[in-house]
Amino acid sequence: MDRDAPVGVFDSGVGGLTVAREIMRQIPEERIVYFGDTARLPYGSKSKETVVRFSRQIIRFLRTKQVKAIVIACNTASAYALETVQAESDIPLIGVVNAGARTAIASTHNGRIGIIGTEGTVGSGIYKEVMRRLRPDIEVFEKSCPLFVPLVEEGLLHDSVTDEIASRYLSVLKGKYVDTLVLGCTHYPLLRSTLRRIMGEDVVLVNPAYETAIELRELLESQGIKRNPQSLFTGEKYQFYVSDLAEKFTSFASSILPGEVKKTERINIEDY
Ligand code: DGL
Repeated sequence: MDRDAPVGVFDSGVGGLTVAREIMRQIPEERIVYFGDTARLPYGSKSKETVVRFSRQIIRFLRTKQVKAIVIACNTASAYALETVQAESDIPLIGVVNAGARTAIASTHNGRIGIIGTEGTVGSGIYKEVMRRLRPDIEVFEKSCPLFVPLVEEGLLHDSVTDEIASRYLSVLKGKYVDTLVLGCTHYPLLRSTLRRIMGEDVVLVNPAYETAIELRELLESQGIKRNPQSLFTGEKYQFYVSDLAEKFTSFASSILPGEVKKTERINIEDY
């Protein structure tokens, strides 16, 4: 495997950029090929079968870019598809759920953890399952927040409509006295300031992206495929692909990533 090859990162839309951003920060020597399935978003309200099919297509597309490893930067696809696609793959694949669950367990003091995510992630019960395996006495309270993804995709990150919806969604978790809240959808860290205001300063907000980037670095090291920081870059270090509306994605990505995103290419994912 070529150590110089890029890492593939994918999500249903812009949410996975919160994971890509963390990889760029923690492992700046790595090249990234990002795919956002903007034509078929949201994944959170789709069936497991559909999300597995979409994930397989995206992995086939990313393989055409010679990626050496893939990060499923989407909780819904991690919950529904990771195990299946891992078993089919000869390159390493990781998701975001294990990292998020581990961080939450390490951070809680009162053993009461809240999870917010899409209907798919919450319905799959995956966070509860992984957390209970790590610590059986943990109390987990889950709440799906289906309107958050469209609000983020529309760029309404700081808006009274978002505040109102977030207050309604989170009131049930506030009543459970959780001391840790997992942002169990990669879109949600983009609403961090709103979530922070509503939950209060005492609740730890867990963004699984941070731990996922650490897991990726360790994986690349253990497999001997981490890029040499000294090797020179040829071509674009970061490449972005979507299945719809490339310009909209480019401006959004530029607003949240450390450097300017010059272009995004639109592809027909159904061809893969
Ligand atoms: N950002 C994704 C997640 O982490 C998917 C959101 C969606 O498409 O519903 O679950």
